Amino acid sequence: MEPVIELKGITKQFPAVLANDHIDMSIRKKEVFAIVGENGAGKTTLMNIIYGLYQPDSGKILIRGKETRINGPHQAIAEGIGMVHQHFMLVPVLTVAENIVLGIEPTKAGLVMDMDRARKEVAEFSQKYGMPIDPDARVEYLPVGMQQRVEIIKALFRGAEILILDEPTAVLTPLEREGLFLTINALIEQGKTVIFISHKLNEVMAIADRIAVLRGGRVMGVVDSKETSEAQLARMMVGRDVVLDIAKNPQKLGELVLEVQDLRAKNERGLDAVKGISFHLRRGEILGIAGVEGNGQTELIRVLTGMAKAESGKVLVNRKEMTGATVKSLRRAGIAHIPQDRLRTGLILPFNISENIVLGMHAEPPFARGIVQQRAEVNRFAKEKEDEFDVRPRDITVKAKSLSGGNQQKVIIAREVSSGPEVMIAAQPTRGLDIGATEFVHRKLLEERDKGKAVLLQSLELEEILSLSDRVMVMYGGEIVGCFETKTTNEDELAHYMLGLKRQEHVKA
Ligand SMILES: Nc1ncnc2c1ncn2[C@@H]1O[C@H](COP(=O)(O)OP(=O)(O)OP(=O)(O)O)[C@@H](O)[C@H]1O
Ligand SMILES: [Mg+2]
Repeated sequence: MEPVIELKGITKQFPAVLANDHIDMSIRKKEVFAIVGENGAGKTTLMNIIYGLYQPDSGKILIRGKETRINGPHQAIAEGIGMVHQHFMLVPVLTVAENIVLGIEPTKAGLVMDMDRARKEVAEFSQKYGMPIDPDARVEYLPVGMQQRVEIIKALFRGAEILILDEPTAVLTPLEREGLFLTINALIEQGKTVIFISHKLNEVMAIADRIAVLRGGRVMGVVDSKETSEAQLARMMVGRDVVLDIAKNPQKLGELVLEVQDLRAKNERGLDAVKGISFHLRRGEILGIAGVEGNGQTELIRVLTGMAKAESGKVLVNRKEMTGATVKSLRRAGIAHIPQDRLRTGLILPFNISENIVLGMHAEPPFARGIVQQRAEVNRFAKEKEDEFDVRPRDITVKAKSLSGGNQQKVIIAREVSSGPEVMIAAQPTRGLDIGATEFVHRKLLEERDKGKAVLLQSLELEEILSLSDRVMVMYGGEIVGCFETKTTNEDELAHYMLGLKRQEHVKA
């Protein structure tokens, strides 16, 4: 098949890093072309260049054999290129159909016409590519998997022939991912081309025809998925062998640190989300929360971290009642939190790395004396943490907003682990992390457990839950419907509980 996009010597320098270094790449029509690489390897930057959001410092882009300068997204769209970003860009208060026509010049007959057309085409695309969706639903109420569909349909609506998906599966449940893969196959069948970025090598092996590996802004190689293995890809990405499965030390169970009794809470829309759940957590233990997204996990964690109030029930930390306590006093009591939505709650984007690393501790010694900030101490600490947690670039003055997705996550984890918690509440702690960083975070969480801390781990990845947790509880419809010793359960059994097909009565985890 002929190439649809050819990149020749694409180079992009940011103040602190050379993000793309003479990249050559040729993407063929009707293929799924995957790009893998560590956090900060330059994947998103390259995609932003193809989509016209950044101009390369040098190099050429050929589209269907013709050299093209892509001045902005409007031009990329005109060339048939569509992009679904790592962080979605929909307008929450608008409906699906409104989001889809948004930004397109109204036709002569006005916007009303376009809305009808949008509704019709949504239905048509839904059918053709297996993406059912309600055009009149408000986007903010849709689960992420649905929001992603809207993004894809929006790109197709604009005539995309080449679709860039930047870490589309990072936010999906296994079931939603299956759906996305069916859609991708349908797109290819219709003659389209898909560029697919992911950190999950098993996915890449399953969906891609060819895989390009980036490291430090350079192409390390392009391989046929039939002729490679996960281990080989990992080695090309990281430059060393990566342990994909880590050994767990025997457990030393200690005192009770967290107790939750008959907790009830509403979600942001005022509907019952957590419906009377009870569980406990001891030192030296990792308790996993498994569940399909939207079954109360988020609301439970919001309550436990002080970001939302419970309707009723009790929360005790070290046997002291902390129900309804503020974020600050919960932190003091030893609760740390790796939030799932790092852009909204984990970081202050305009602040630099050092400011973000001491966030929450910045007003206390040794980072402040009275009201005087101790800059030198902050900087020393931030540099140390940058090294320990391998935040790239190694420059504490870089603003959080210009870090790659995975490095933003590392900054949060560095801060939360360093705050010396008693209980670490980790919500999807490895979402968007590369394999090396995932390995690292897993080790850190196990280290916390072995030091006698407690970890509450919420993840949509059953594999992650099973490999780290000592016990697992399953949430479904706002309740705990099952609790298991990890040793005696498996993915299959958990899946039955997650889908509501089975339940234990009155679980006290
Ligand atoms: N707007 C920007 N300003 C300054 N530096 C940037 C900007 N965008 C990206 N960078 C830097 O360029 C490098 C490549 O970032 P990029 O986002 O392309 O990585 P990535 O491969 O997509 O990583 P991830 O897997 O974490 O998403 C990083 O070091 C990042 O900090
Ligand atoms: Mg990226």
